Amino acid sequence: MSPFKERAKEMADQTISLRRTLHQNPELGFKEFKTSNLVSEFLEEYGVKVRRGLAVTGLVAEIEGQSGEANGMLRFDMDALPIHEETGLEFASKTSGVMHACGHDGHMAAGVSVARMLQEQHASLPGNVKCIFQPAEEGDGGAKKMIEEGVLKNPKPDFILGFHLWNEKPTGTICIKSGPLMAAGDTFEIRVSGKGGHGGLPQQTIDPIVCAAQIVTALQTIVSRNLSPFDQAVLSLGSIHGGTTFNVIPDEVKVKGTLRTFDKLIREKMLERMKEIIQGTATAMGCRGELTVSEIAPAVINDARIAQRVKAAVAGKYPELMIDESYQTSVSEDFGYYLEDVPGCYLLIGSGNAAKGKIYSHHHPRFDFDEDVLSLAAGILADCCIALLRESPID
Ligand code: NI
Repeated sequence: MSPFKERAKEMADQTISLRRTLHQNPELGFKEFKTSNLVSEFLEEYGVKVRRGLAVTGLVAEIEGQSGEANGMLRFDMDALPIHEETGLEFASKTSGVMHACGHDGHMAAGVSVARMLQEQHASLPGNVKCIFQPAEEGDGGAKKMIEEGVLKNPKPDFILGFHLWNEKPTGTICIKSGPLMAAGDTFEIRVSGKGGHGGLPQQTIDPIVCAAQIVTALQTIVSRNLSPFDQAVLSLGSIHGGTTFNVIPDEVKVKGTLRTFDKLIREKMLERMKEIIQGTATAMGCRGELTVSEIAPAVINDARIAQRVKAAVAGKYPELMIDESYQTSVSEDFGYYLEDVPGCYLLIGSGNAAKGKIYSHHHPRFDFDEDVLSLAAGILADCCIALLRESPID
């Protein structure tokens, strides 16, 4: 039996209460000022040393162990989304148009409990642990900024762990996968420029709408015709804009979309083909086609050795859980940036519960998760962290 599992259960009410306070007061990326104040107040109350102001609102909670040279890192994210909450919960968001619709409120609450438990046990910790609370996970580059500002230095951690509450999986399930778990995400904009004019006189124009339509269709052939059936990629277009009225051909059309891949070479191949299709189709139709790409996050690729040890720790201490070792998702997560520098493992902990009505997916205005998972997650993170500290350096 794990002492952390028991301790996390004892603290469950406090963890849930902090989650609800955070849920009521959501803040968007790099604006998590009240959030980060509240989290640090709690950490300090529990005797944890906190460094503030990294990447604007980021926090580093430092727990110094008494023995060993090993250094572990645990990461929790803090930002909410620009979504108007429709859950009707008694602790629903008090800020109109902003909502913790991804569960990061739960991540922070569990993170505070993990730091608290590790601090309570610091005299026997086989190494040091930094719990980092990161701003702006939702596509605004929070992880990148934390790394640029040195979170992975002095000392460089031996490993990093993180988790996401995951409503796509039921409570009682945990996904621990070696290798690619979550996709690299890119956003892109296609600009098709032609020559506008009267809708009744198309011969005097170069119509970017017809050209954009051809490009939209041709892009669908990359995954189906240029990739091997054993490779994976998603290319989705989410916005197309051009023109203002029925009888005017516009000068320009803009198309926006996202690309998801699990492998760097596949990503390059996709981008190369996109460029060829956009430019080639535009040229053939007398237009100009440009592609602008910006990276949201690299793929989350778990280190096989660490994933193996995490699995052993979870299987040993939480035998009641169903471990899924094959689940993969094309959602992206900026934890991938840390994994480019430090070996680690990102876990998806099932938090969907139909019996409790927790059936909505992440980023839905009615999203909510099974709160009983918070103490479970806290126990798992603490246990896995200790197991890895004991075995560091990991080879
Ligand atoms: Ni999230």
